[in-house]
Amino acid sequence: MRRREIIVGNWKMNGLVESALDLAREIRQGLKEREDKRLLCEVVICPPATALYAVNQNMGGFSSLKLGAQDMSQHPNGAYTGEVAGLMLRDVGCRYVILGHSERRQLHGETDDRVAAKVSAAFRDGLVPIVCLGETLEERQQGRTFDVVRRQLDVVLEELKEPRNRQQLVVAYEPVWAIGTGLNATPEQAQEVHGFLRTHLNTHLGSDIGQRIRIIYGGSMKPSNAASLLLQEDVDGGLIGGASLRAVDFLGIIDALPN
Ligand code: PGA
Repeated sequence: MRRREIIVGNWKMNGLVESALDLAREIRQGLKEREDKRLLCEVVICPPATALYAVNQNMGGFSSLKLGAQDMSQHPNGAYTGEVAGLMLRDVGCRYVILGHSERRQLHGETDDRVAAKVSAAFRDGLVPIVCLGETLEERQQGRTFDVVRRQLDVVLEELKEPRNRQQLVVAYEPVWAIGTGLNATPEQAQEVHGFLRTHLNTHLGSDIGQRIRIIYGGSMKPSNAASLLLQEDVDGGLIGGASLRAVDFLGIIDALPN
């Protein structure tokens, strides 16, 4: 089944408002020039929280470029110093939110259960979660890749009570050893895990829903390796860190989408 691809730029903690606006403008301009690609995919940029408002104000009503956040609180509001709620993200134009990124899991103690709570909060607040999962190098070497991604996915699936939410979910397979290292999974390695996740989704949600959920790949995706990754049957897009910080590279990945 052909799913609409989704290309997501995760800018992480990079850029001040002015540079974020410049980058967003360049990407928007590039997308305007690529009508064929716009039909094929959804494009989402996830600037740092401080730039979301300004970027949204400067989208100029161009609906082909969507805005996402890099994390959110599971709480709707209250005494949670430093946290940002889903409704606040919606308020500044976000449609998507990245959850459970390995940097949050590893550097900020985010557990599977907390990620699951955030997924349910994202749906409650009208955001589409892009849930990241993936194994470390050690886990891969020990042959535990499938166990790890299955565990990370299962807690999230438990939260998906509403049928409408189920098919909206975006799953991002991001092998930790490939993030920011320049070392990407081979297309075969990516497909192996994506295929496993697809089968798991089909088994647990029914294939009518499992076949619709987009599973995207993240980890050193760049223009030179994007085409072969995106060609894989169950790779439905990309979550791009480093290469999303330069418009030519990000657009180069969009150009690599198979027609
Ligand atoms: P990378 O990051 O493209 O720089 O490897 C991907 C990510 O962290 O989402």
